[in-house]
Amino acid sequence: MLNNEKIREDFPILNKLTYLDSASTSLTPIPIVEAINDYFLNYNANIGRGAYKIAIKAGNIVDDTRENLANLINVKSNEIIFTKNTTEAINIISNGLNFSNNNKNNNKKNKNKENTNKKNNNIIVSDIEHHSNIIPWLSLANVEVKILQSENYQLNPEILSEKIDKHTKLVAITHISNSFGSKQDIKSIEKIAHDNGSLLLIDGAQSIGHSKIDIKKLKPDFMAFPGHKGLMGPVGTGFLYMKEEHIEKVAPTNLGGGTIVDYENGKFKLEDSPYRFEGGTLNIAGIIGLNNAINYINKIKIDNIEKYSDKLTNYMHNNLKEIENIEIYANPSNIHNIVAFNLNNLNPYDISKILDETNNICVRSGFHCAIPALKSYNISEGTIRASLHCYNNKNDIDKLIENLDEISRFLS
Ligand code: ALA
Repeated sequence: MLNNEKIREDFPILNKLTYLDSASTSLTPIPIVEAINDYFLNYNANIGRGAYKIAIKAGNIVDDTRENLANLINVKSNEIIFTKNTTEAINIISNGLNFSNNNKNNNKKNKNKENTNKKNNNIIVSDIEHHSNIIPWLSLANVEVKILQSENYQLNPEILSEKIDKHTKLVAITHISNSFGSKQDIKSIEKIAHDNGSLLLIDGAQSIGHSKIDIKKLKPDFMAFPGHKGLMGPVGTGFLYMKEEHIEKVAPTNLGGGTIVDYENGKFKLEDSPYRFEGGTLNIAGIIGLNNAINYINKIKIDNIEKYSDKLTNYMHNNLKEIENIEIYANPSNIHNIVAFNLNNLNPYDISKILDETNNICVRSGFHCAIPALKSYNISEGTIRASLHCYNNKNDIDKLIENLDEISRFLS
């Protein structure tokens, strides 16, 4: 069981407002903020460089964080690469895998060659991806991107079976949709992709911290994660899981300090993974915060978070659907933490502004960095999206419902 009242004490900002936008970024609990402060006040140093005590201390905590993330998702620590967010994690793969080395912008002269190559390489994504898992693939010169159409806000794996072919190099699919809250059937998707000899990338932006992630069960080749959403770590943190056997196939694209072990006559020898992918100074303060966030989440237990949030999501959905003139974009049997809707055909931005201005209710409005997903369902003005974490409770939902009800009645 999860003690919501106790958890809420760690988020004093909740005394001032109703926060229903955790899909965008979660709130950060006091212990994580304190851990970051402690770094800046007591051992503010770079890592992997200085031999003095505070540099060693900071380095050890960053190493611990990597180890803790590896344990959290059941992999080895050299398979964890720190990034600033999910987007950067996906871009490491899209820019580094050898079929994707030529970016369209650098390759305008060679259109014919590009078209020939395109026939021999394709990547499959779904129409419910957020931009981070579609635009990086669309920007590749030598790869055709096939976009699978979802049904009832989720991806039917049978459609993947129909569209995958011998030229499919990679399947890149979201775990939980950021627009509609649906969880995809990764087990079936993984089987289809791997039976076909294709690689699998899963976008874990909306699932980590909300659902248990066991890489040994999901079996992706790559999985991209934020630190600042479900895990409740600081903004500016994320990570990539890269299966050890693929490390040599992915060219590092952010070379510089910390990425090489030797240099001679203009030639260099790369560091091992993860360091070859982590050029320059890392977000050390953020990673230290993330380490504490993992401990925080582990104490509450992800299974408890998932059960609690699924219940609360259903409560929100059941109450939302009672509001007059509401249109909800969800498959009620497959919604997790996120419910999107529109009211009276009114502009979602206006509604979210009213909710905020009148009652300090924070929801996201618009296209949620997922224009293709919303266009797929003929949603032309965007949606209002309410999203949860374990610090939310029924009062938060009731407040949202009361206000929407009032707006709906007033404006109709
Ligand atoms: N991908 C983030 C969201 O869904 C930014 O809000």
